[in-house]
Amino acid sequence: MGIKVRPAKPGEGRDVAQLLAVAALPRPGLANTIDNNELMMAPGNPVECYLVAYEDLKMVGAVGASPPWNWLTELGKHGLAREEQRRIGMIIAKIVSVVVEPDHRRQGVGRKLLLHTIAFYRQHHYKWMYGQFSDDSLIEFYKELGFTVSDPDQPLNVPVGIRTSMLGGSGERWFSMLL
Ligand SMILES: CC(C)(COP(=O)(O)OP(=O)(O)OC[C@H]1O[C@@H](n2cnc3c(N)ncnc32)[C@H](O)[C@@H]1OP(=O)(O)O)[C@@H](O)C(=O)NCCC(=O)NCCS
Repeated sequence: MGIKVRPAKPGEGRDVAQLLAVAALPRPGLANTIDNNELMMAPGNPVECYLVAYEDLKMVGAVGASPPWNWLTELGKHGLAREEQRRIGMIIAKIVSVVVEPDHRRQGVGRKLLLHTIAFYRQHHYKWMYGQFSDDSLIEFYKELGFTVSDPDQPLNVPVGIRTSMLGGSGERWFSMLL
């Protein structure tokens, strides 16, 4: 079985949305972002990363990651300057979602998608990556990839880019990694 991982192309948003829906992970904006090719890939800009995994002609997995726009917007409301938000958006990436089609789980597809995402952000000189999840059965998945996994509700110290900041306890677990 050959699994190929590559960047998502415009037109593939619907298939990605379907994979996410099956896993009960609705991400309303993500399909549009992929289809409208809104990805900011120009050099010197924050970068987003949307990858898909194919087995032959079938999409069997997808991952989306981006600078933590929502969090940066929040910080902006508390006075963080736009230029500073942009600078942080060029060194911190958040995994928005990773999903594998149920019949293809436990075959290394999710691992492959995340390893490509990590490599992508390393190539772009990002310093730190994080995300959150609620299903405890995934603790091993993230640990096995080298992420540190927090206890539920524990805040997360942001170790780079910003002098003193923490992401609050969300009832979920954080996973994070220095790149
Ligand atoms: C999370 C998810 C993407 C993992 O994808 P996957 O392709 O099944 O994972 P992999 O086969 O690459 O797993 C790599 C390793 O992680 C660990 N792992 C993965 N899923 C696991 C599970 N359900 N329970 C325990 N360990 C698990 C194992 O160590 C595994 O290696 P092994 O199979 O050799 O033991 C997949 O389970 C999924 O789509 N879940 C629903 C969506 C979701 O919850 N996404 C995460 C939140 S955004």
